[in-house]
Amino acid sequence: IYLLAAVLSGNAEKLPVQAWEINMKSLLNVLEIAKMVEDVKKVFWPSSIAVFGPTTPRLHTPQLTIMEPITVYGISKLAGERWCDYYFNKFGVDVRSIRYPGLISYKTEAGGGTTDYSVEIFYEAIRKKYYDCFLNENTALPMLYMPDAIRATIDLMEAKRENLSINSAYNLGGFSVTPKGIYEEIRTHITDFKIKYNPDFRQAIADSWPQSIDDSVAKKDWGCHYDYDLKKMSAEMLREIGRKLGG
Ligand code: SER
Repeated sequence: IYLLAAVLSGNAEKLPVQAWEINMKSLLNVLEIAKMVEDVKKVFWPSSIAVFGPTTPRLHTPQLTIMEPITVYGISKLAGERWCDYYFNKFGVDVRSIRYPGLISYKTEAGGGTTDYSVEIFYEAIRKKYYDCFLNENTALPMLYMPDAIRATIDLMEAKRENLSINSAYNLGGFSVTPKGIYEEIRTHITDFKIKYNPDFRQAIADSWPQSIDDSVAKKDWGCHYDYDLKKMSAEMLREIGRKLGG
């Protein structure tokens, strides 16, 4: 079972109790099913960089570190990690998880997250040659391009259990980037693209998250690696979104 349903960080702040119910009940239901039904061999459940908070070291954030999330989403992901670890140790449920950074994809538009700007910016560059960014220009966050995220997820799920030293969720770094960094990269393709920075409530969320992630444990345990960097991801995003919007 791959349980990917969740209310993301921005939306969860607007409906805290409902977000907690949706994010937690779905996980507990699936963990219970996996415990009871023998045919369910493995469970995947995504965690997030949102498990970290302002007291966490923000650069090369280690696998094992201080975790005091300040968002409903982060609290639910941290609690979820503990539940996964508990079901593994107590009931032998083979549940595996990744702390995804911001995920960037051309296939679906973003919705309700703090890292959404990194998807919206490509759509708006093509649609309007203008983007009103809800984070400050120098807000660095770790990001991962969807093909790398999918491959990493499958690699983790296919890894031998005895090679896995983490029963909660693995750190994944991807590449770290700022809104200005993505803007400048897009400008090498669309020279008259313009941007304005108008931070909203999500700035405080982004400021509480790591800027870069140490994913050495994922690399060591199951060979995590990436094919995309900012340049390669941006070129593909612009090409594919351009096609999709009929450009
Ligand atoms: N991308 C997610 C969000 O912004 C973080 O896991 O909410």
